[in-house]
Amino acid sequence: MAVKTTIQEVGKYQDKEVTLSGWIYNKTNKGKLLFLMLRDGTGLIQAVMFRPEIGEELFDEFTALPQESAVQVTGKIVEDKRAKGGYEMQAKSVEVVHVAEEYPITPKEHGIEFLMDHRHLWLRSSKQHAIIRIRHQIIQSCRQFFDQNGFTLVDAPIFTPAACEGTTTLFETDYFDSKAYLTQSGQLYMEAAAMAFGKVYCFGPTFRAEKSKTRRHLTEFWMIEPEVAFCDLDQDMDLAEDMVAFVVQSVLENRHNELETLERDISKLEAIKKPFPRIKYDQAVELIKESNPDFLYGDDFGAPDETIISEHYDRPVMVTHYPAEVKAFYMKKDPNEPHKALCVDMLAPEGYGEIIGGGQREDDLNILLQKIKEHQLPKEAFRWYLDLRRYGSVPHAGFGLGIERTVSWLCGIHHVREAIPFPRTLLRLYP
Ligand code: 4AD
Ligand code: MG
Repeated sequence: MAVKTTIQEVGKYQDKEVTLSGWIYNKTNKGKLLFLMLRDGTGLIQAVMFRPEIGEELFDEFTALPQESAVQVTGKIVEDKRAKGGYEMQAKSVEVVHVAEEYPITPKEHGIEFLMDHRHLWLRSSKQHAIIRIRHQIIQSCRQFFDQNGFTLVDAPIFTPAACEGTTTLFETDYFDSKAYLTQSGQLYMEAAAMAFGKVYCFGPTFRAEKSKTRRHLTEFWMIEPEVAFCDLDQDMDLAEDMVAFVVQSVLENRHNELETLERDISKLEAIKKPFPRIKYDQAVELIKESNPDFLYGDDFGAPDETIISEHYDRPVMVTHYPAEVKAFYMKKDPNEPHKALCVDMLAPEGYGEIIGGGQREDDLNILLQKIKEHQLPKEAFRWYLDLRRYGSVPHAGFGLGIERTVSWLCGIHHVREAIPFPRTLLRLYP
């Protein structure tokens, strides 16, 4: 009996017989030979079928199989320098597991709406497959970074009683006899956890009722959020920089084939080395005004403004000290510049925009009470959060990295909707 293995592992079985299970990606018939391109989720391999070896009936059945039919092929693995993976299979015996119907996704051009309607099938295509593998690598590396650096994973709830990032993007839902909101960020819970564990992180889905249709916004996206006690803005930026440099490096090391499939310019990613530039809002405004003289000092940056800033650098840039009014209620103000927040946004190069938002948190009870009032937030829902400023309040900071924005940047893709397996946007809840 031949061993069962995967295409990724065939190199271990050179000149031996193995069984591969997968789907037909492609095939060409040349008389007595049928070249079958097989995919199994780990890679692609060509299996060569010889009519006299396979038998007439099966050979003809295979020749007629539609794309995406499921099959099992047993044969010898031989080295083939021209093949992408370096090997091909000489098929000895074959079996049909399922005959597919006419596959709707063909090599011809399809519109994005058609492809998104068929997202459940589109995931099988080589580029989409590569993106999701890189996403996995990014998530794995983020976790590895925090796990190796003394952080404890603390999961944040999804149902929450109050807003974290402003009331305009809250998803409200019935919660028995009252209302709940889907979480916009795990941050407030991570602040509680940091006071219990020192260094913590959470990773999970977050929700924003974004009414805008941009290439950077999803209504459901994933965020990794570290929070550290006894930490100021500078130390927070050191952490963000270390993490991003680590993640980029591990994608380069472990996902070379996928980056190649996506035709990503790897030299751009190889440039992502510490230190990342750090500038203040005021300096960023000067850069913006060179190209966009109409920019109003005091406003938050729009996507085009972020692009202008990032064009000045070959690596991510960290912008601090935004006007406190454009930032969330929990941001601490800089005692030396009382109108500015001790916040940081990390902007990715090549116009990919903000991938990280974070900063130092307000740790004074009375100032925080005042901020909650100014932002017209329900004080009762924040009672527990205010307790953190009553019992051993300390300087603390953290940030949130948006996974899909990071995936888009590292993959070099245009829109975040391809950076998540099943995207949710203003106009899409299917499939
Ligand atoms: O800047 P944001 O809103 O920051 C927070 O939520 C903080 N509470 C995080 C923290 O300090 N723990 O969001 C953080 C990141 C952004 O930089 C962006 O990468 C991503 O989350 N993000 C989105 N990604 C996709 N679609 C959206 N609608 C997003 N909104 C934010
Ligand atoms: Mg932000």
